[in-house]
Amino acid sequence: MKKFIFACILLLHAFCSFSQPVAGGKSKGKVDSQSFIVPGAEWKDTDGNPINAHGGGILYHKGTYYWYGEHKGDSTYWNPKVPSWECYRTEAGGVSCYSSKDLKSWKFEGIVLKPNLTDSLSDLHPSNVLERPKVIYNEKTKKFVMWLHVDSHDYAKAAAGVAVSDSPAGEFKYQGSIRPNNAMSRDMTLFKDEDGKAYHVYSSEHNKTLYISLLTDDYLQPTGTFTRNFIDKSREAPAVFKRKGKYYILSSGCTGWDPNQAEYAVADSMLGQWTVKGNPCSGKDAEFTFYGQSTHVLPIAGKRDAYIAMFDKWNKKDLINSRYIWLPVKFTDNAELDIAWQEKWNIDN
Ligand code: DGJ
Repeated sequence: MKKFIFACILLLHAFCSFSQPVAGGKSKGKVDSQSFIVPGAEWKDTDGNPINAHGGGILYHKGTYYWYGEHKGDSTYWNPKVPSWECYRTEAGGVSCYSSKDLKSWKFEGIVLKPNLTDSLSDLHPSNVLERPKVIYNEKTKKFVMWLHVDSHDYAKAAAGVAVSDSPAGEFKYQGSIRPNNAMSRDMTLFKDEDGKAYHVYSSEHNKTLYISLLTDDYLQPTGTFTRNFIDKSREAPAVFKRKGKYYILSSGCTGWDPNQAEYAVADSMLGQWTVKGNPCSGKDAEFTFYGQSTHVLPIAGKRDAYIAMFDKWNKKDLINSRYIWLPVKFTDNAELDIAWQEKWNIDN
């Protein structure tokens, strides 16, 4: 009988560890190779703390993935000085970084761009806005270059900050901020092409028009070559990737922290012309992007045609408790996108 009970316990243990979801898992950093991604569930790091890397992006460098994001403060407040929209805020806690070899188990590397706690005029003071940091590696300068949206507490500054580091896990040194091409810059991403050219993609002109701006060879400044895209279409939350020579932009509409319908567009060149293709999402709540908002599309290293679409599921009244929605991107025969809702999925398949 004792043997039977022991065998049952072993079996139950084996079953539990086999079906352990990555996001929402309760085990402290223990993730097996069969783990699932559970979109929208709480996702813990290897120390057992919820991952705090919002509006983020991922850099793959020498066999390791680095996930950079907004490190949100504990409490959320409403900023009454911005009456035109629901301006919920948290203290901006700098940029956090997590590392992973398998995209499932994430180790906290620390705050790689630190907030400036003493100078209230600094872009990095917690009372100001810090959003959507992205990092790319410059092969020529051997520097890791971060761009991010920095703003005043009321989102009036509308600028882009730049920071640089010698190693992917920081520490990044802040270089200051600009309005690139003399234009407002809010939601943003970076895209590095196969030829080493890099682009800053940002919502401008009061978020009405998306700018695509070629960066200098060191990735630290705009070259002055840029295009205005989706004019007056109010696109936010851009995420760019390339497949089979075509460029794709995934973006959201402009409704504050509230979800709306995603849209994607395709082009033969980064600077355009872009052809709008429509909503790439399908399945439950596809018309609201599964209650998420795009932030990055990650090609999986070493896998053909494998991309992950990353979204933030904002919790506007408790921003630190916003969740992450990761879903696989599929392509139809004529290169159209399908990002289908799944309750859970196996990243290794
Ligand atoms: C939508 C943007 O995509 C977010 O990054 C953030 O700026 C919110 N708006 C603020 O409402």
